Amino acid sequence: MSTPLARLLRQEQLAFLTRDHSAWGEHLDQVRAFLGEGLQAADPARPVLVLGAGSGLEVPWALAPPDTTGWDADPWSRCWTALRHRRWAPWVFADLTGGLADLEAAVRRSVAEPWSGRRRVREQAILRLAGLLPSLHPDPAALRAWIAARRPGTILSANVMGQFGVVAERLVEALFGGSPWSPDPDLADPLAEALDAWTRRTAVAFLTVLQESGADLWLVHDRAVVFTQGPLGLGPWEDRWTQQLKGAEGLEISDPLPGLDVMTLLGETERIPFRAQRWLWPVAPGQQHVVEAVAFHSSGAGA
Ligand SMILES: C[S@@+](CC[C@H](N)C(=O)[O-])C[C@H]1O[C@@H](n2cnc3c(N)ncnc32)[C@H](O)[C@@H]1O
Repeated sequence: MSTPLARLLRQEQLAFLTRDHSAWGEHLDQVRAFLGEGLQAADPARPVLVLGAGSGLEVPWALAPPDTTGWDADPWSRCWTALRHRRWAPWVFADLTGGLADLEAAVRRSVAEPWSGRRRVREQAILRLAGLLPSLHPDPAALRAWIAARRPGTILSANVMGQFGVVAERLVEALFGGSPWSPDPDLADPLAEALDAWTRRTAVAFLTVLQESGADLWLVHDRAVVFTQGPLGLGPWEDRWTQQLKGAEGLEISDPLPGLDVMTLLGETERIPFRAQRWLWPVAPGQQHVVEAVAFHSSGAGA
């Protein structure tokens, strides 16, 4: 794991853990109940994999079968989990997207001339990176190889998929030494659009590996991030999450899975969803996340 990325994930984890958790009770109850159900339903004779295991704030490890492996690229995640749950689980620290090393190399090549090391003018570097990003096709090869070798019966994705784009953004900002994004939301931002497209390709590649695993899938992810000081509600389940939001007129909403619909993508295969729920998570004052939790029975394809 490259140093800037490891440092970045550690910082993100610390920021996550040191936030004010006072309004998180309902979210934590719901996410622990959902992931706990997945762990209890897992076949204890087969390996179980927890992706984005983090510090275990959301994962009830006491319910995990003995052969459960955590996966998180934050170098401290396993220690945090051990401290919280008194369990030293087997762990994988690799990048789940398989694309962050290439992304980092592309940003470095854009920010400075590879032959001289001289930094490019900021506008030039931004255009260069926006032009390079479409050629990057993240491949979660480490995840695919682990699944092929261990054949897990159950895979939990614990709030990590919505982080792929956030981590990529932070990486780009860190290597640029500041924000390269357009400050005016009404102006076109080719770099932001190219990074959104990268995030979408990354999430599709990740879900494709999960879908081909043949395992039962329990997936929790940020479906949307809503910025508002006003009241916000969530109506009964609608296939389109945007139609579930109440009081959402004129809100600033960001989509961590740019334009991707997880149910449609996985539902296009023979997989059968048997759980689908969404709830609001007041992460910080003025910032609420729409969390989506969906579970799919095994297609048997990779079993
Ligand atoms: C919102 S936190 C999830 C919290 C975790 N479920 C818990 O119970 O503490 C997202 C986690 O995903 C990890 N992560 C983000 N991007 C990753 C990547 N590309 N590969 C592996 N882990 C990643 C972060 O290190 C972080 O621990």
